[in-house]
Amino acid sequence: MTESTWTPSSWRELPAGQQPEWPDPGALATVRERLRALPPLVFAGEARALLSALGEVSEGRAFVLQAGDCVESFRDVTAPTIREKLKILLQMSAVLTFGATLPVIKVGRIAGQFAKPRTEPTEVVDGVEMLSFRGHSVHSDEPNAEARVPDPERLIQAYYQAASTLNLLRAFTKGGFADLTHVHTWNREFVASSPAGQRYEALASEIERALRFMQAVGIDLTRSPTLHEVDVWTSHEGLLLEYEEALTRTDSLTGRPYDCSAHMLWIGQRTRELGGAHVEFFSGVDNPIGVKLGPDATAEDVLALSERLNPHHVPGRLTLITRMGADRVEEILPPLLRAVREAGVPVVWVCDPMHANQFRTPSGTKTRHFDAIMAELQGFFSAHRAEGTWPGGVHIEFTGDDVTECLGGSEAVLEDQLDHRYETLCDPRLNGRQSLDLAFRIAELMRST
Ligand code: PEP
Ligand code: CO
Repeated sequence: MTESTWTPSSWRELPAGQQPEWPDPGALATVRERLRALPPLVFAGEARALLSALGEVSEGRAFVLQAGDCVESFRDVTAPTIREKLKILLQMSAVLTFGATLPVIKVGRIAGQFAKPRTEPTEVVDGVEMLSFRGHSVHSDEPNAEARVPDPERLIQAYYQAASTLNLLRAFTKGGFADLTHVHTWNREFVASSPAGQRYEALASEIERALRFMQAVGIDLTRSPTLHEVDVWTSHEGLLLEYEEALTRTDSLTGRPYDCSAHMLWIGQRTRELGGAHVEFFSGVDNPIGVKLGPDATAEDVLALSERLNPHHVPGRLTLITRMGADRVEEILPPLLRAVREAGVPVVWVCDPMHANQFRTPSGTKTRHFDAIMAELQGFFSAHRAEGTWPGGVHIEFTGDDVTECLGGSEAVLEDQLDHRYETLCDPRLNGRQSLDLAFRIAELMRST
């Protein structure tokens, strides 16, 4: 289909991977109508502001941090959970801002990240076969076959859960919680209590001196809006096309369609085929769009995706989120970077160091090691350095909570500790302190190159 034949529902004529089989078409149709009548969650003008911020990233003048849960849980839509996630996101951003000496665009995997693609359609729990868990916007995570039947009413609940998360995010980020001096105090507390504190001390002290300098020249750190308020944008995998279509609105200012379920949406590694429904749907909305690229991605795929999703070469429109694996990133990434550079198309390159570094422990727990995550990031930075392209950002799965899901970090989580607090509903997340470790280590990497 072409730009002239696109409609919010033109994806329906193409194969759509990873969609739940909703058992009752009538109930689904009713839910679709109800969602259509609800207010948009974000304003198109905000999506345009993020687009222009990402445009700066594509030109090497900013960096992006995209982070949040693998899948949000309806049970975690609570003030403490949202606050702790935001706090870590802000702390990481402050460290990265200093590392890059550039603005850091903050994008949460939040307020809508409720659906998952799955490799296996079913799983067996205690000898009973049931549908694999696809997220709370589809069904319950309870391990019984009945609870796993898709229920479209959950799409409505996802909308309200996203709305209340977004409301609190807006309150925190504009109401003073995100004040840079608070963020810096939290970082000092982290450095003081971390076994790697001495290593991070130099960076933290430099940040402190920069803040004192600003005060000394008369900047009121608590009043200046740029230090007191931040923009945190929302994003999720645009997986359930029924939901994304129903939240698509025509912007009253430009007359253009926007998917108003989030500021940014990305297409997953499993649904990025050119002739598929997801690429069709996202080719027609004007939000900034991401695409995940796994180790099987070719230069031809990347150029074709760019042509399809960003035919007018708008800077910031397309973010390519690479997840190649620590062992292979330096072999697989450079040809893609070269092809895009030679084609001269604007792209934001982001590294997801999580999804290709996953393994199971001998006892069967899904995990990732901090060192492999760091190694993929190192490979990403060095591939970009070699090709003369801009390593535009990182994309991670984390939580502010003190979970034990990923191994390692400076307060190393050990294999026999994984079951202490293993709470994720899908992939293992870095805990708050591992995430801050990562931010300091990335900042070191950026400063050294
Ligand atoms: C994810 O980001 O949680 C995910 C499923 O990633 P990918 O599409 O890269 O496998
Ligand atoms: Co994941």
